[in-house]
Order: sequence, then C-alpha cells, then structure tokens
Amino acid sequence: MPAADQNPIALYVHWPWCVRKCPYCDFNSHAAGPGLDEKRYLETLLADLDASIEIAGRRPLSSIFFGGGTPSLMSVKGFEFLMQGIARRLPFAEGIEITLEANPGTLEASRFAGYAANGVNRFSIGVQSFDDTHLKTLGRIHNRAQALEAVQTAARLVDNFNLDVMYALPRQTMDELESDLRMAVESGATHLSFYELTIEEGTVFYKREPAGLPDSDTAAQMGDLVQERLAAAGFEHYEVSGYARPGRRCRHNLNYWMFGDYIGIGAGAHGKITTAGGILRTERRGNPVLYMDDGANHRFGTQLSFVLVDSLPFEFMLNVLRLSEGVPASLWSETTGLSFEVIRPKVDELRREGLLVKDESRLACTPLGRNWLSTVQERFLTDFEA
Ligand SMILES: C[S@@+](CC[C@H](N)C(=O)[O-])C[C@H]1O[C@@H](n2cnc3c(N)ncnc32)[C@H](O)[C@@H]1O
Ligand code: SF4
Repeated sequence: MPAADQNPIALYVHWPWCVRKCPYCDFNSHAAGPGLDEKRYLETLLADLDASIEIAGRRPLSSIFFGGGTPSLMSVKGFEFLMQGIARRLPFAEGIEITLEANPGTLEASRFAGYAANGVNRFSIGVQSFDDTHLKTLGRIHNRAQALEAVQTAARLVDNFNLDVMYALPRQTMDELESDLRMAVESGATHLSFYELTIEEGTVFYKREPAGLPDSDTAAQMGDLVQERLAAAGFEHYEVSGYARPGRRCRHNLNYWMFGDYIGIGAGAHGKITTAGGILRTERRGNPVLYMDDGANHRFGTQLSFVLVDSLPFEFMLNVLRLSEGVPASLWSETTGLSFEVIRPKVDELRREGLLVKDESRLACTPLGRNWLSTVQERFLTDFEA
C-alpha cells in the first residue's frame, strides 16, 4: 500500500442547507431553519478538518470545493473565517482551484464578490434551466432573469465558471432544450454539467411523479442532442455529464475520478485518505445538528473505516470509467497498491466483449461500454483475489 505522502490532496466542504428543498433532490440538504447556526457549523468544520489532518498529514491542497446544499447562503464574513481557518491549517498548492456552488437568486448573487475576494476562483452555478416554466416545475427559487444575472456576476469576477443544467424535464420539448443549450454555450461558461433529470427515491417527485416526463427513448435523444451541440460548440465531453472548454476540466472532480485522495468535511461528507495501513474512508453524520454535536463531543476521530481490498476494484472502476478517455492502466497499482493481476481476468473478459478498449495501456470504456456504464462497473462487484 502506498505510504501517506506529501502529494497534494483535495478538500470538499459540505454546506447542508438550502432556502428550501427542491422536489427532485436527494442530496444531503435541508431547508434552512432553526438548525442553522452558522458560527457553530463553521467552527465544527474546522474541528473536522483538524481530525482529518491527523490522518492525512499536512498535505498541500490542490483544490477546494464548497458544495451543498447551497454554500452561497453562507455570509461573506463566515466564509472569510472559514477560508482563513483552512489556510492556517494547510498550505495551498500553486494554481489551487477553489470552487463554490452558488444558487442564482439576488440575495446570493450580491455575495459573489465577497467570495471571490476571499479566494474563490471558480463558481458552479445551479442554473438548471433558462426557462421560467421549467424552473417553476423544478421548484427552484430563481427565475430566468436571476439566472442570467448570476451568470453575468460570476463572469465579471472569475474567468472560470460552470453551469449545472438539467434536461429531460417534465413536458420539455426538443426546441426548449435547444434553447437552454444555446443559452448555456453563449453564457461564457468554461464548463457545463448537463444532467438528465432522474427521479430519486425519497424525493417529492418520487412520491408524486410529475406529469409529462419524457420516455427513455426521448430522454436518450435529448442526451444525444446535448452531446452534439456541446461538441459543435467546442466543449470536450470528458466525463458522463461533464463538458469543458480545453484546459478547463474541473480539477477537483478529476481527482475523484482518478481515484485520488480527498478530505471531506461537513455533515454527511465523505473522505478518502491513503495511509501506510490502507485506504481509509471517513464519513460524517448527515444530520447537521447531530454533526455539530459530534464535533462538540470529539467524535470525528473515530468515524473511520478501511476500504476492504475486495471492494477496491468496484470503487476504482466506479470512478475512472466515468472519464471518456479512461485512465492509464498503471493508475490501478499506483492508487491501490495492488497488482494489476487482481483485476486482469475481469478486464480481459470485458475487453473481449467489446466493453473496454483493447489498448493494454489504458482502462477505458468503448462507446458501447459507455452506453452500459453501470453494468460494466457492476461486473467488478465480484470476489477478487488480492
Ligand atoms: C448540490 S446541487 C448544486 C448546487 C445548488 N444546490 C443548486 O441546486 O443550484 C448539484 C446539482 O445536481 C443536479 N441534480 C440534483 N438532483 C438531480 C436529479 N434528481 N437529477 C439530475 N440532476 C440533479 C442539479 O443540476 C444540481 O445543480
Ligand atoms: S438541488 Fe440544490 S438547491 Fe435544490 S435542494 Fe438540492 S442542493 Fe438544495
């Protein structure tokens, strides 16, 4: 197993509150209410970071991602406190990418400048659609005008920003999707994440499915349209839902997909840290109030488990096969410390079936394999001999 090292590491920071819960969303996010005690939460985040540093060491940060929930609900003063706390604890690697997820909405947009002044150099804006009718169906708190305003604000402050857009929406027509694609391309975004709307268990949409959802053929046609239009506009389709201008792939997410190490702090956050004894997973409790109680009771140090060797092939493939170009085959041994022989029989089988590329030096899906991605990944859920 590779020993803990001085290689840069990524940091994910979870903010678990939103103005209100969207009916399609199964993220760990809660309507902001009496449980929202910003100061206590921020102090807990730093205690959480201290516990992770005990395991990971003082490795420089290659990226920080403030995700949620809606981190753009954080006050600028609170954000400044948090950034200073992080910077006091860990060095920043040269060219660090610092992303903050932001919801359009006038209140939050006015805070963008404060976040940028405190280090944010990439925004990820949850636009979802530029169509007021669809935004309403999705239960969003913003409208088209606010989405455009947020985009303009971000573009004035940073030269690198992402838009999250969803498609295959209830009653969405191809023309409407064309229009969202055009708006997204013309927005100046360097990165676009286009997600097909999925109906997740435990959501309002799951309990009461919205009328007019496209059937799977129509949704697939919409997916093809997204790929065609974004490729024609010069975006590289480098990951299942990720499209980037050349040189603008999201470094933070690339680290996940390359099975790199990351510290995860905040309610429900996960971390992955390679130590001399194996790959450790950290996982915090999802309920923000219980998470803060855990911090007060010094419980973070015990919320760890080693990744079992048997589950490494699946965990590895779950990430790396999302990348259109896959990864060098040598990454398996570099990140897991295990011999390639462990996965060779399964890899060879999938190569013979035309689902993984034949090139011995790479682990990547063929176009056919990409269409059956979860099936290919699940084939690594068998017993392996390490
Ligand atoms: C944590 S949210 C991003 C930040 C912010 N909370 C927001 O919604 O604007 C992550 C993104 O996942 C996507 N997403 C969430 N639930 C989804 C679903 N059921 N199907 C498809 N995409 C979904 C949305 O595009 C959303 O912006
Ligand atoms: S989609 Fe974003 S804003 Fe909506 S509930 Fe989920 S995390 Fe919150």
